[in-house]
Order: sequence, then structure tokens, then C-alpha cells
Amino acid sequence: MLKIGVLASGRGSNFQAIIDSIKNGYLNAEVILLVTDNRDAYAIQRARDNNIADLFLEPADFKDKESYYRRIADELLTRGVELVILAGFMRLVGKPLIDAFPLRIMNIHPALLPSFKGLHGQRDALAYGTKISGCTVHFVDEGMDTGPIIAQAAVPVYSDDREESLSARILKEEHKIFPYAIRLFSEGRLRVQGRSVFIEGETGKETCLISPELT
Ligand code: GRF
Repeated sequence: MLKIGVLASGRGSNFQAIIDSIKNGYLNAEVILLVTDNRDAYAIQRARDNNIADLFLEPADFKDKESYYRRIADELLTRGVELVILAGFMRLVGKPLIDAFPLRIMNIHPALLPSFKGLHGQRDALAYGTKISGCTVHFVDEGMDTGPIIAQAAVPVYSDDREESLSARILKEEHKIFPYAIRLFSEGRLRVQGRSVFIEGETGKETCLISPELT
């Protein structure tokens, strides 16, 4: 069974989607630890409701970014975590954690990368006037939203959309695509070559999801 560590800063609906996917048998995995950088993160409540250990680490208590991520890596390694999930973790992950989990950290971003990186993917896609947006699951490297792409889902952008409505439409897809990417990892089906992620046994459509509104 795959041992997962989750990092989250807030609401944690993606964390919940992962918990639910484990509960309903879609994912053969166990969340070993939730780490947060925010003591008020609702994700903590979700962890406690599901008997998952949680750990709040205040970045300001550490002498620098390096030591903060060294500590997180140590906590995860000690517990035997094999895959780290960034589920709305609102910080750029530091090198010690990336080095400890090479190609073993996944993030979800609410836009179709490489467009609209950063903290406001949905708002930026709207402001740019795109007609299609979506979400991306990718491996994490040292850049901001730059690692190899595992899976993407597309949704329409309507002319009367506001940031809230577009975010909600994208979030629905996030909750499907993130457990899906984790499942591929847990099945040992992901092969990374440079920027490309290949899926063993792929039929050609599996990692490109299109919402029903677009078909
Ligand atoms: C999501 O939109 C995700 O794409 C982004 O942060 C948000 C987290 O939402 N990285 P939640 O905390 O999982 O509800």
C-alpha cells in the first residue's frame, strides 16, 4: 500500500478527495501524515476526522527556508512516506524536500500549464480571456509550477464567468484528476523522460481529461 504524506495550507478539498478515494477503494494508499504551514487550515480538521496524524510547522520558527524543508523531509522520511502530495500548499517547496523525494512530489495547479503559473491560475486565465482552462497535476521541481506534467483536465470558460464560478468548475475536475494521477503512480505506471511523463499501458486518452461541457 502506497504511503502518502500531504502538505496543505488551507481548505483541503483536494486532500478530502484523496481521503475519499482511499475510503472507497479507488486508491490503494494510506495518508500517513498531514503537514501544514497554517495552524488554522481546515485540512487539519479533515485529518482529525479521519484519524490521520497532523503536524503544524510554523515557517517563522525556522532559521531559513532550507531548515524548514529539511525538517519536513525528515518527518516524512521517518514515517516511511513514499509519495508527497501538495494539496493547496501555498509555498514554493525548498530543495531539501525535493532532493529527499525526487519525482516523488506531486502538485495540482488550477490552470493548464504552462499557462498561468503562480497563485492565481483561475483569475489570470479569466483576465487573459481564454476560452478553455482547467487543471494540471505535475511532478514538483524547484521552479514554480514547472515540473513534468502527469495529467490535465480541460473545462470551458464562459463569458459570464467570475473567478469563483470558474474556480468551482475547475475544482470539480481537480478532485478527479489528482486521485487518478496518484493511482497511476501507485500502480508503478509513470515513467519520466526529461519533461515527458509516459504512462505504461496508456490508451492515449487517459491523462487528458475533458469535462462533459466541452464534448
Ligand atoms: C486548488 O485550487 C489547487 O489547484 C491549488 O490550491 C487550491 C487548493 O484547494 N493548488 P483545496 O485546499 O484543495 O480545497
